[in-house]
Amino acid sequence: MKRIPLLTLLACLLVAVACKQKAAPQDRLLANEAKINDIIAQMTLEEKVNMLHSKTNMSSAGVERLGIADINYADGPFGIREEGVPNGFQSAGWTLDSATYFPTGSALAATWSEDLAYKYGTAMGKEARIRGKDVILGPAVNIQRLPVGGRTYEYLSEDPILSAALSLYYTKGVQDQGTAVCIKHFAVNNQETNRGSVNVKIDERTLREIYLKPFERAVVEGGAMSVMPAYNRVNGDYCSENEHLLNEILRGDWGFKGMTVSDWGGTHSTMGAMLHGLNVQMTGSNYLGPAVIDSIKTGALTEAQVDEKVRQILRLRFAIEAVPADKANQIITSQPESQKTALAVAEKSIVLLKNNNILPIKANVKKIAVIGQNAVLKTQSGGVGAGVKALYEVSPLQGIQARAGKNIEVNYAPGYKNFPGRRWGPAPAEPDPLVATAIDEPADPALMAEAMELAKNADLVIFFGGTNKSIETEGSDRNDIKLPCGQEELVQALYETNPNLVTVLISGGPTDLQLLEPVSPAIVQGWWNGMEGGTALAEVLFGDIAPSGKLPFTFPMKLEDSPAYAMGNFPNDTREMDLFTAMYRPDMTPAERQALNAQRPIPVSDYTERFYVGYRWFDTKNITPMYAFGHGLSYVDFSYGDMEAKATGKGVKVTFTLKNEGDMPADEVVQLYVTRVGSSVEWPEKELKAFSRVSLNAGESRKVTLEIPLNDLRYWNEAKNGWDLEHGKLQLLLGSASDDIRQSAEVSI
Ligand code: BGC
Repeated sequence: MKRIPLLTLLACLLVAVACKQKAAPQDRLLANEAKINDIIAQMTLEEKVNMLHSKTNMSSAGVERLGIADINYADGPFGIREEGVPNGFQSAGWTLDSATYFPTGSALAATWSEDLAYKYGTAMGKEARIRGKDVILGPAVNIQRLPVGGRTYEYLSEDPILSAALSLYYTKGVQDQGTAVCIKHFAVNNQETNRGSVNVKIDERTLREIYLKPFERAVVEGGAMSVMPAYNRVNGDYCSENEHLLNEILRGDWGFKGMTVSDWGGTHSTMGAMLHGLNVQMTGSNYLGPAVIDSIKTGALTEAQVDEKVRQILRLRFAIEAVPADKANQIITSQPESQKTALAVAEKSIVLLKNNNILPIKANVKKIAVIGQNAVLKTQSGGVGAGVKALYEVSPLQGIQARAGKNIEVNYAPGYKNFPGRRWGPAPAEPDPLVATAIDEPADPALMAEAMELAKNADLVIFFGGTNKSIETEGSDRNDIKLPCGQEELVQALYETNPNLVTVLISGGPTDLQLLEPVSPAIVQGWWNGMEGGTALAEVLFGDIAPSGKLPFTFPMKLEDSPAYAMGNFPNDTREMDLFTAMYRPDMTPAERQALNAQRPIPVSDYTERFYVGYRWFDTKNITPMYAFGHGLSYVDFSYGDMEAKATGKGVKVTFTLKNEGDMPADEVVQLYVTRVGSSVEWPEKELKAFSRVSLNAGESRKVTLEIPLNDLRYWNEAKNGWDLEHGKLQLLLGSASDDIRQSAEVSI
C-alpha cells in the first residue's frame, strides 16, 4: 500500500477543518471583490458620487453605462409600501401594488416565534421581488423604551433577547429570498419627540447590552446587508455620522461589509458622512453630491475614500440580483401564500390578558353587541412610513360576523368618537358625529345611549377600545397612555348595563387600564394585526384556537411607574415640530425649513435609568405592573415537569417536560430568566435569556430543552471596554411569564 506523506495528510486535515467552518454571514458580501475593483476602475468620479445619494425618493443610482442597476428601496416593515411618485411619498396611483399587510412589530413580537419571524421575512422578501425592490427598509428593531413611544407598534420588544431573535429571523427570511434588509433605526431611536435633533446620552454598557443587541444579531448572524442610521444623535454625534456606531462598532466589532443608508432627511454634513460611515444620503444630494467632488478638489477628501463607499454599495448591488424591468410588477404584490403567513402570525400574537371564565364565547351566546369604532377602523395605513395599501383587510367586526354565521346575531355600534390626530388646514365645515376634535374629549351621550341599547339586549358585549394610527404614529409620541375619547366612561356604563363583557384592545403599545380592568371580566390585546387580523381574533374569541401570544412589553399600572418617567428622563423638552414633517411640508420654502432647523436647540435625552428598561426596572424596583412582560393566558393549563439544569461549558442547558392539561391543542411560550447570585457586578433582578414556543395537542406532553449560550451571559465591562464573563452562581427561573415563575435551579458557570 502506498504511504501518504504526513505533511500531505496534515494539509488535507486543515483544509477539511477550514471547509467545515462556516463562513461568516457577512462574507456573502465579499464574493465579487475583483469584479467590483474592476468596475470602480472604469467609473468616473461623477458616476461614483452619483451613487452616494438618492436618485428618486425610493432609489439610488447605479451606472447604466456599465450595466449597474439602480438600487430600489421599499418601506417596510409590515408590507411592501404602495408605489409612490418618483419625488415624494404621494401615491403613484398604481393598481398592481396592493400588498400583504402583516401584523405590526409588537404583534409579531407577541408570538415569541423565530419560525414565524422567518416566514414573515420570507413573505416580505418575496413580495419585494414581485415589486422589483432590492432592499426592504426594515425590520425596525429599536428597543421599546417608552410606553408612549410613537413607533412602539413598529418596534418589537422592550427586551433585547426577544427583539434580537426576531430581528435575526426576519432578516434571514428576507435575505434568503434574494432581497436585502435595511435594518433600522441604528441606533437608540426610542422617541419621536425631537427625533431629528435629540442627543441621546447613554453609557456603553447599556448601549451594548440593551439597545444594540437586535442590530448585532441581524448583522453578525443574519448577514444584514444594509443598515439605516437613525435621525437622532448618540453621545453627541448624529447617527449618520457617528464614528463609534458606524465605524467602530458596526464595521469594526461586527464586521459589517455592506452599506448604510441614512434615514430620509437624516444626513447632516458632507465631511461627517464621508468620514464617519455613511454610504448613501436619502434623500437629496446636498451633502453627498457635488459637495463631495468639491471637497476632493480642495484636498479635504480623496477619491479613494469615495471608492471605498462605492465598493460597499456595489457589494450589496452584486449580492442582490436586480429584477429586470419586464419581470417586475407583472402580478399583484399580495400573494395567497403571504396572506396565510399574515394569518398565522396574527393567530399566535393575540394576548389574553385576563379571563374570568367568559372566553371562549359560550354556546348559549346567541346575540352579540360589538361596541367601539376600533372594531371597524382599518389599520393598514396611517402611522406615517409604515402604512400598507393592503389588498384587503378583515376588520374585527367582519371577522366576528363571518365566524358567527347565521345562528348568532351580531350588532354593532360605534360607542365613541375616533380621534384622527392633528390636522393641517381648516376644520371641515360640517363636524362629523363620529370624529373627535380632541383626544381627551369626553364620551358622547348619543353614541353612549345607542351602545347601551345594544348592550342591554345582548348575551355578550365585546368592547373594542385602544388607540389608532394617528395617536400612535411616527413623528410624535403620545402625551400619555390613557384611552382616548371617553372610552373608560363608556366601558363602565357598558359593564353596569351588561356584565357579560369582553374588552379587546386594538393598539400597538400599552394603555393605562386602571379604570378599565375592574369593569372588564376578560381583556384581550388584539394589536394592529394585519389584513387577517379580524379572522384571527374571531378564531380566538370563539375558541377555535387557544390564545397563545405573550406580552413583548410591560403594561405599567400607570405611566409614571415606567423607568424613563420615574427617573425624570422623559418628557424633558418642549415639543417642537418633527423634522420629517417639516421637510415635506408643502407650505414651507426650503429657506424657511433651513431657518427652522437652524433655530432648533439640541434637546438631550439622558438614559440615566441605564439598563433598567421595561421589566428589568419593574422587577428590580419591586413595582407591580398591570400586566407583566411575558404575560399571556391560554384556554388550557400547562404543567411544568421537574427541571434539570446544568452548565455545559458552552453555556447552560435546561430540560423539563411540558404538558398540555387541557382538552384542545394549544401553544405555550416557555421563558427562562436568569438572576445572579452573590455577584460583584450590578445586574437587574432578572433577565430573559431563552424562550421557546411549544405546540401541544390536548393532553400531550413533550420534553423541552432551553439553552443559553455563554455569550448571552456576558456583560459589557466598562473598565476593560469589552465583553466579560463573570464566573459564579446563576439562579435559573423557568416560567410562563416574568411574573409567573414555576421553577428555579442553581448552576455555576
Ligand atoms: C422613517 C423610516 C422610513 C423612511 C422612508 C422615515 O421617516 O423614519 O423608517 O423607512 O422615512 O419612508
